[in-house]
Amino acid sequence: MDLSPATTAVTAGRPPRVQGGPVNPPVVLSSTYVSQGVPGPELLYTRGGTETWAPFEEALGRLEGATRPAVVFGSGMAAVAAALSLVPDGGVLVVPRHAYQVSLGYADDLAARHGVEVRRVDITDTDQVIAAFDGADVALLESPTNPMLEVADLPALLAAARAAGVRTVVDNTFATPLGQNPLALGADVVLHSVTKYLAGHSDVVLGACVTDDADLDATLRAYRTLHGAIAGPFEVWLALRGLRTLHLRVERAQANAAVLAARLAEHPAVAQVRHPSLPGDPGHERAARQMRGFGAIVGLRPIGGAAAADAVVAALRLWVPATSLGGVESTLERRRRFATESPTVPEDLLRLSVGVEDVEDLWADLDQALRAVL
Ligand SMILES: Cc1ncc(COP(=O)(O)O)c(C=O)c1O
Repeated sequence: MDLSPATTAVTAGRPPRVQGGPVNPPVVLSSTYVSQGVPGPELLYTRGGTETWAPFEEALGRLEGATRPAVVFGSGMAAVAAALSLVPDGGVLVVPRHAYQVSLGYADDLAARHGVEVRRVDITDTDQVIAAFDGADVALLESPTNPMLEVADLPALLAAARAAGVRTVVDNTFATPLGQNPLALGADVVLHSVTKYLAGHSDVVLGACVTDDADLDATLRAYRTLHGAIAGPFEVWLALRGLRTLHLRVERAQANAAVLAARLAEHPAVAQVRHPSLPGDPGHERAARQMRGFGAIVGLRPIGGAAAADAVVAALRLWVPATSLGGVESTLERRRRFATESPTVPEDLLRLSVGVEDVEDLWADLDQALRAVL
């Protein structure tokens, strides 16, 4: 049956429908399995595989429109490391100049320790990115980017990369599989920080890669086992429980985000708002063309610079000052509080992760905090 993503989120990875059987897959907490003699394909040892990963991997693979299950990892960064293991020593890696800062740090580490040439590009400048593909091995793409919310022309970039023989890895954390499916546009690997929207409750750290390619799938699974980059069964079980409501949470969060972005754009204490839903946003047209929905991350620069931004964070009562994103609760942070954040990210940029609370409560809190620092 051809099911919609909402139905897939609810139904994929359920145990067989048998009289007296459980509706949910069990969580199996066992590091080892009964085994003697020459090992076969059956489960042997949890670093190599456990039945508790399979339902989540199946559900995420289907949500990304893949022909095979996802590969779950112990964190989003473990998934990034696994995907970037496709870059050979001395090879060339293209990355966005603005992207999740630890992914960029990982690229720098590949440069320092493995002689990789890292080309940082403005992901919104399609010609510049395509020029950087020349002679490259792998491109890591993010769209919308963290934290700048830049939108790349993914169909054009993925087609150009394929023509140039460049392997592509798309970090789909911000958009979620409901917002876009990069494999259908020609990406080789899609990755997620499952920690964010997929799990959705700020209670686990997990990652995943998805690919349609049998060789890449085998490479990613081998990386996971060899590096021990595995997820605990209980965390994966929790992530599947979170995934069941992905569509409801994302629909509500992005509707809230669009309302807040539009109101913030009119607020006297605001210098700039970034959200692809805003008709004047530089990413609006592309996002409207290639995404379903505009996501629930908002960029906000209050009038008064970094000090004002810090004061807004301190004046909020409902919004939680915290890093990370994609949970049911609304959080925010000034990204340049991290010395490692890209220096071209403005000092005063607040990244808002809009949750699923009542939008009027969220607005009232933002409005009072912004007015307090005017
Ligand atoms: C876009 C993006 N990719 C990857 C990661 C890394 O994921 P994790 O924190 O689960 O290791 C993050 C974390 O913030 C992220 O925002």
